[in-house]
Amino acid sequence: MNHKAFIQEQIAEIRKTVGDGIAINALSGGVDSSVVTVLGHRALGRRMKTFFVDNALMRNGEPAQIIKLFSNLKIPVELVDARAEFLKALKGVTDPEKKRQAITDTFYAKVFVKLVKKSKARFLMHGTILTDIEESVAGIKRQHNILSQLGIKPEEAYGYSVLEPLKTLRKDGVREVAAQLGLPKSVAQRMPFPGPALAARIVGAVTEAKLEIVRQATAIVEEELAACDVFQYFAVLLEDRATGIRGGKREFGRIIVVRCVNSVDARTATVTRLPWNKLERISRRITGLKNINRCVYDLTPKPPATIEYV
Ligand code: XMP
Repeated sequence: MNHKAFIQEQIAEIRKTVGDGIAINALSGGVDSSVVTVLGHRALGRRMKTFFVDNALMRNGEPAQIIKLFSNLKIPVELVDARAEFLKALKGVTDPEKKRQAITDTFYAKVFVKLVKKSKARFLMHGTILTDIEESVAGIKRQHNILSQLGIKPEEAYGYSVLEPLKTLRKDGVREVAAQLGLPKSVAQRMPFPGPALAARIVGAVTEAKLEIVRQATAIVEEELAACDVFQYFAVLLEDRATGIRGGKREFGRIIVVRCVNSVDARTATVTRLPWNKLERISRRITGLKNINRCVYDLTPKPPATIEYV
């Protein structure tokens, strides 16, 4: 595929569809929404409104880093602080599917719908890729129909359009377009990060205290494994506790799982054979965190495990 031609075609298409209207999109920092953001801004300039929703579930410093990166590209991104809304929706929810549903519902029905109204946008741009469409059709993924997720019914929604400029591309194509658009490698080659963010890495109910623990453990794992050329690595906080001993005193502490897997398309995954001294170092640093007295390395491939825990 000729990426330059693809970019020009999509910019022309966005201009033609939106005319002199306003379009809106939500940026997560992932490669798909980042590419949509750049295409939208190249096509529409200030009539493209991009929002970054802080859902309280992001990694250390992530919202600020992403906004700064786009500011360096001269693309304004408005930060929306929706942390309280997401934490409220997640309170006491332990079932994995209910947790995921609570996050989707809060995003679309509570937060994004307000932004759509406030911005007076009639055009919503979304980073749907070909694989998302295929998986929706095959019933693997929950449906991606944004208008229905926003609670906008077709009859009320006359005039609303969803633009999906990446819907003919797969992930590798999006990464190539990202590089062609001048997005840095940290975006173009970004490690997959799930939509439910750190909530996918806390088994059981999500609380601010648990988010802080998993955030610190994630930062250690990402720092230690940054140089590894593997598909995905992260930390998970379990709901169980274990007895440990620290400073001569017994404590009933928390358990962190480290996961590091190789994969091509995330449909199957194998566990990475990390060097023992690297694992020991990670374990030492993680058990140095307050109240964590056990660190385990997950040896399970996919299948039978999934990559994430929730
Ligand atoms: P699983 O856990 O199903 O994950 O083996 C496969 C890949 O998908 C990522 N993942 C998600 N990505 N929204 C996403 O955009 C999600 O809800 C989601 N859940 C899992 C996961 O990180 C892995 O790369």
